[in-house]
Amino acid sequence: MKPHFLNSLAALLAIAAMTSCNGTNGSQPTQPLKSALEGKFLIGTAMNTAQIEGTDAVGLGIITTQFNSVVAENCMKTEKIHPEEGVYAFDLADRFVDFGEAHGMFIVGHALVWHSQLPAWFTVDAQGNEVTRDVLIARMKDHIFTLMERYKGRVHGWDVVNEAFEDDGSFRQSPFYRIIGEEYIQMAFEFAAQADPGAELYYNDFSTAAPGKREAIVSLVQNLQAAGVRIDAVGMQGHITMDFPTPEAFEKSLLAFAAQGVDVMITELDLSVLPSVTRSADIGARVRYDSELDPYTQGLPEAAAKKWESRLESFFDVFIRNSDKISRVTLWGISDKDSWRNDFPMLGRTDYALLYDRNDQPKPIVEWIVKRATQK
Ligand code: XIL
Repeated sequence: MKPHFLNSLAALLAIAAMTSCNGTNGSQPTQPLKSALEGKFLIGTAMNTAQIEGTDAVGLGIITTQFNSVVAENCMKTEKIHPEEGVYAFDLADRFVDFGEAHGMFIVGHALVWHSQLPAWFTVDAQGNEVTRDVLIARMKDHIFTLMERYKGRVHGWDVVNEAFEDDGSFRQSPFYRIIGEEYIQMAFEFAAQADPGAELYYNDFSTAAPGKREAIVSLVQNLQAAGVRIDAVGMQGHITMDFPTPEAFEKSLLAFAAQGVDVMITELDLSVLPSVTRSADIGARVRYDSELDPYTQGLPEAAAKKWESRLESFFDVFIRNSDKISRVTLWGISDKDSWRNDFPMLGRTDYALLYDRNDQPKPIVEWIVKRATQK
């Protein structure tokens, strides 16, 4: 674990970097996001490898002063933590959990059962043939139990199943679905509830404002509940663009999920300012680089920044108005320079998707959230 003085150093460096800046970005919020939002919902961020390893001092300073929940951006995914059969690589995940614990964070585990970043071995046998249903169930069970038992009582909630549906509401033809059948979802939640009865269990997906997906998730929650299987929350990823979805459609889904008696959480929020190429956040979707779709390599013009701000304001307005139904809002990273949106779905664009700019300065939206959350 990182020595404590390094964290204090990180906070000092962060403050130094912030005060050296001028322009529209860079004004520090009048109070930390986490205290402004207290009593409404947790405010979280994803942590990348540099942050978990302790090399991004400025990022760490922001995380510890502004946020009270963390999730690992990559290191708990199957390809990272379980790269070969019977081989687990816990080092980074252990450090992530140590960090969260040392700072009293609400720690989220991401993601147990997901078709992406799933290593090839998981679904094939030694001859390279697809495994049988029983073998895949056994592997899924071993994976869930191993991770959840290791971090029992320390990781407070898990994305148990990620992205099981297409936007039209049909089941995604993932290996889990094809080999096991739709019951794999219920099985995963049952294994998770056994492995750590104290952890919260989530279903997590993108494009949750799409009507088909909304209905599919509502039915999933109802079916699990009818079968007596615990699900505590629906995670709405929130990888949004300038034209999709509308805040109204997003709110409609939020209310539909909450009406099932589960919590709602915004789990992976970022707002791409770039011309959108796809509505999907399926990380398998790839489009060839096109400079016409990468207009802001030299900086974001004020008019575009204003549009971005006002769109994100309208989403935070939905979150704050519905804070009785929302337990957490998590940003998918700290600084624009580190956002996965720079490379998705097109490699090498310059995006401006997060709350902190490329110099780690807070954008005006940060103070806007503080004001909106604390207004009487
Ligand atoms: C992304 C990460 O941010 C990238 O670093 C990685 O290369 C691909 O995955 N939905 C999810 C997240 O559930 O795990 C994905 O994270 C983004 C989409």
